[in-house]
Amino acid sequence: MPDYSPLGVAPATPRVSIVLPTYNERGNIEPLLKQLLPLKAHFDLEILVIDDDSADGTADLVRQLAHGEPVLRLIRRVGRAGLASAIKEGLLDATGDLVVVMDSDGQHQPSSVLDALTTLQQGDFDLVIGSRFHAQAQIQGLSGRRETGSTWANRLARASLPRYRQLSDYMSGFFALRLDRCLPLIRAVDVNGFKFLYELLAHSRGQLRVCDIPLSFQPRGYGTSKLDVAILWDFGVSILHTISLHLLPRRAISFGLVGASGFLVQVIVTQLVMLLPGVAFGQALPVAVVAAASSNYLINNALTFRFQRQQGLALLRGLLKFLLVASLPVVANVGVASAFYSYVSHNPFWAQLAGILVVFVWNYAASSRFVWNTP
Ligand code: GDD
Ligand code: MN
Repeated sequence: MPDYSPLGVAPATPRVSIVLPTYNERGNIEPLLKQLLPLKAHFDLEILVIDDDSADGTADLVRQLAHGEPVLRLIRRVGRAGLASAIKEGLLDATGDLVVVMDSDGQHQPSSVLDALTTLQQGDFDLVIGSRFHAQAQIQGLSGRRETGSTWANRLARASLPRYRQLSDYMSGFFALRLDRCLPLIRAVDVNGFKFLYELLAHSRGQLRVCDIPLSFQPRGYGTSKLDVAILWDFGVSILHTISLHLLPRRAISFGLVGASGFLVQVIVTQLVMLLPGVAFGQALPVAVVAAASSNYLINNALTFRFQRQQGLALLRGLLKFLLVASLPVVANVGVASAFYSYVSHNPFWAQLAGILVVFVWNYAASSRFVWNTP
């Protein structure tokens, strides 16, 4: 129901902000803006383009378009901080009472904006999600692989958010919300990766009145998707963070998962080296530990600490520092694993797991501080 004042007159047109994150969308942003601007007839409109200093001149184009179009505002950020961060910044800067967030590559349709705002107001919801997986949704812009991936991601997300079990798309880039009710939650959202909406839902712990509406999801106009392995990784880490009831820090989860991969590397390398004639477990183990530590360093550099990523010569220097930081527990690792192997069990798997667990905490704390210079 629309809100009526005590005098019984319809309220003034609501102020609506549309937040458009852009990264290299020069070919797509102008047609989208042309389709969105007519919404001025319905709302007191503001359009915010949040650009991460795109190399293709997206921001310059928006700047030009903003001349003579007071509804349009450009926020240009230096140093790419990512989609979720751009959305958060747009929401914090928005002056509307109602805000719509959508992709600016043409995958989301301007017609969904009106649908979402109508639902938001009439149903008195706090948040309306445009869903690609609603029974009435039309998806043309998702490859089979992406659709399968998103379906699985959605299942995981649903399992980790039991209070929002009724929803069908937890990762959508399209949603509309009431700013006053969502603002305190928005401030708390972690901005790594793509999954702003998931984080907002996770933080709200069931407080928000949410529904979803079907989306028409079309192929992107120009350019390519910015979703990559690091963003998928980050999503997995977020799910585990939510399941741990926000107790385990994200970076520790990521570091732990990488450590688990190092454990596999270590076990496999040990087995391989032991194939050499005359090499026993005790000799193979140190080689495997160094191989695992190096592999951990490279993966952590690309995923866990990618915002402080080392490159070129610094990558090599970082590897040496990491091996140094890890060398103290390498002694502990070899010691614990060998002792376990000799006194507890002759199973190399359990022996190595025991060694690795002992060194996890040290490695995490010391390498955060000394290798990637984070607190
Ligand atoms: N400012 C900024 N910074 N914008 C970005 C960045 C960034 O680092 N990365 C992506 N964007 C913008 C793009 O320019 C586009 O407008 C929108 O965010 C979506 O990015 P795409 O690269 O087109 O994402 P996608 O189509 O692969 O992913 C879709 O599905 C995801 C969930 O699976 C989108 O709908 C996402 O919004 C959604 O989270
Ligand atoms: Mn897209």
